[in-house]
Amino acid sequence: MPTLSEIFETMEYGPAPESASEALAWIATHEGRFGHFINGTFTAPAATFATVNPATDAELAQVSQGSAADIAAAVAAARAAQPAWEKAGGPARARVLYAIARLLQKHARLFAVLETLDNGKPIRESRDADIPLAQRHFYYHAGLAQLFEAQNPNARAHGVCGQIIPWNFPLLMLAWKVAPALAAGNTVVLKPAEYTPLTALLFAEVCQQAGVPAGVVNIVTGDGDTGAALVAANVNKIAFTGSTEVGRIIRQATAGSGKALTLELGGKSPFIVFDDADLDAAVEGVVDSIWFNQGQVCCAGSRLLLHEPIAARFIAKLKRRMESLRIGDPLDKSIDIGAIVHPVQLQRITALVGAHTAGEVHTAPCPLPARGSFYPPTLITGLSPSDALMQQEIFGPVLVSTTFRTPAEAVELANNTRYGLAASVFSENINTALAIAPQLEAGVIWVNGANMLDAAAPFGGMRESGYGREGGPEGLAAYTRMTNHAAPALKSKPVALPVLEQVYRTAKLYIGGKQARPDSGYSIALHDTTGALAGHVGAGSRKDLRNAVEAMNAAKGWAKTTGHNRAQILYFIAENLSARAAEFAALIDSFGGAGAAEVSAAIDALFTAAAIADKYDGRVAGVPFGGLALALQTPVGKIAALCPEDSALLAPVALLAGALALGSRITLVPSACYALVATALYQVLDTSDVPGGVVNIITGVQSDLAAPIAQHADLDAAWVYGDQALVAEVERLSASNLKRVSSGPSTPDMAQILRAASEVKTIWVPFGI
Ligand code: NAI
Repeated sequence: MPTLSEIFETMEYGPAPESASEALAWIATHEGRFGHFINGTFTAPAATFATVNPATDAELAQVSQGSAADIAAAVAAARAAQPAWEKAGGPARARVLYAIARLLQKHARLFAVLETLDNGKPIRESRDADIPLAQRHFYYHAGLAQLFEAQNPNARAHGVCGQIIPWNFPLLMLAWKVAPALAAGNTVVLKPAEYTPLTALLFAEVCQQAGVPAGVVNIVTGDGDTGAALVAANVNKIAFTGSTEVGRIIRQATAGSGKALTLELGGKSPFIVFDDADLDAAVEGVVDSIWFNQGQVCCAGSRLLLHEPIAARFIAKLKRRMESLRIGDPLDKSIDIGAIVHPVQLQRITALVGAHTAGEVHTAPCPLPARGSFYPPTLITGLSPSDALMQQEIFGPVLVSTTFRTPAEAVELANNTRYGLAASVFSENINTALAIAPQLEAGVIWVNGANMLDAAAPFGGMRESGYGREGGPEGLAAYTRMTNHAAPALKSKPVALPVLEQVYRTAKLYIGGKQARPDSGYSIALHDTTGALAGHVGAGSRKDLRNAVEAMNAAKGWAKTTGHNRAQILYFIAENLSARAAEFAALIDSFGGAGAAEVSAAIDALFTAAAIADKYDGRVAGVPFGGLALALQTPVGKIAALCPEDSALLAPVALLAGALALGSRITLVPSACYALVATALYQVLDTSDVPGGVVNIITGVQSDLAAPIAQHADLDAAWVYGDQALVAEVERLSASNLKRVSSGPSTPDMAQILRAASEVKTIWVPFGI
């Protein structure tokens, strides 16, 4: 034992181990073997596999590999329980969620130790971050359940939700998925990750104690095959967090099934330090960002971007800080870095780093434990933006870095990634920080902070980081569907189907504010109700879509216009359409549509969108970190929309109105049957001050344009309303680039269009501290 004066001299930490005995005793009460939790009870263990403590390689328990039959039983239990659970009403569900939160709090230490044993994360983190945040999620969603009917009058639950979660925050990811699903009246089948199933099984017991009705929460353990069976099962929604690769597989598997889908995938988030930053605070930010949970964090700030004037000084400070990081037994309360979740993940990190020679590799000098899966905190400097390690998600405690000269270059480097999950900006200059934050293409941005998460602050990605939000009312919305989703029924089957004519005609498309010949040179003949040839429209193709996307790119300034200006333009379109109402109505009638009603509904949609354009502002979330989270509604970007076949005017007008209102740009592919109505819109748009490229119209055969739309890498969203076969094709092909797809059988109402036209960006700002 060192003497007190020796301790004073060296300032060495003594061991401060947390006891594992309670958690091991809990495992022993199940004789170390677990079945699934289905319909309120545990099944007998079957086809078991080991879950292992990655810090010691010791087996903790045997858990069951869920089969398709187990999944079917769990889904059947959830299906049977769902109507009563939804009907019970928000306040009744709130009581249950509140009871869960209380029990999580009561058993917090047991959960924290069990999480650390199963995952390898430091007890300091499971105790101070994972478990308290999981509790907070249930408390917060108890509140959202209480207010559910009052705040969401038109919302209904999806039904049964399949939820698949990763191993990096096992209980917290469960809370993020289960709490909002239950609050909204859904029932769930959750599959935890194969490396970390134990806290989910302990949570099953909490459900029993909290009075969760049988079948409302079901937990089936197993690997990716079990996950795939859940995706294929009779569920109404899939919510997935994990790798981008599996996200793509799930997108393909659910295409055309009508299952709602949210994906929270990988990231390579930038951590930007300006020369006027508080460098010591930024160094601590880096520690929280990339060495929290051994860097196994989807939103980890894994790409350090340093302003050149301070780069050398910052790296020196960071290396000094790395010397004091302590790696070792995760149950030791004075450990900073624990174990990597599994030897497979350790190998993956080692192989990724080992495969590249660029840059200078610096590892923390702390000794690694003799057994278990450990990887040292690592910093790689001197990389160029295109180096593979600057682009690939490593998902380990490895930070890569490069430098920038100007704020513009910082933004360019930050956005130079296929991902878009999170970002940090460090600057003491409020102008710099708040000018840069909105320019970052990421779902969550922290100003002078990192890795802050809260139930009130929406979390989720852009681009290949996935779609959907978790947290806040926005996260709740992802677990509901709107009941009044269809626009007024104005359908009338068009009388004569269009015919593609293999002859040259001068029918034009509308691209970049100008009429443009279709690249194919072909046109489509349209007939009126008498069967007579009414005219021709251009047959648009892949090349025309490319031109329309270029035109939308050139019109990017639209995203920065004010809501007031956008409203004025929408009112102007409405006014110009009103002036020609009779002409449009007659034209629609001549093709067998409901002319007067369509024109009046279209004008109404324009007025509604104009009214909303300067009022769709997002909200400010009070978060328990001495700051504010601004949940800003931002335009989704560039949209291509396939309009329903049976809507002559309302669909194209409502879709463009909703998109424009929120600052998005749109390329419409109208119903082929009514394409001559859409071409009549060119003049209305021309006379309404709509900037060129903000709205483009490509007439043609929708099925020819579906694949180009789904596959175009530079389109942010595809809207497909109407034909189910087209929905399926676009959803399936969109897996390659993970663009957002909104779909439905008919023209959606304005609330739905607005949801699809915008995405929440959460910016955390220091405030009042
Ligand atoms: P993964 O994406 O394979 O696993 C996540 C979950 O999906 C697990 O529950 C798994 O059983 C399940 N799953 C796997 N294949 C499935 C399928 N075909 N259908 C349905 N469910 C399936 O992630 P994994 O292999 O554990 O880690 C690989 C890499 O993924 C990591 O190195 C990291 O880069 C990334 N990752 C990202 C996470 C994030 O939060 N963004 C979390 C975990 C991993």
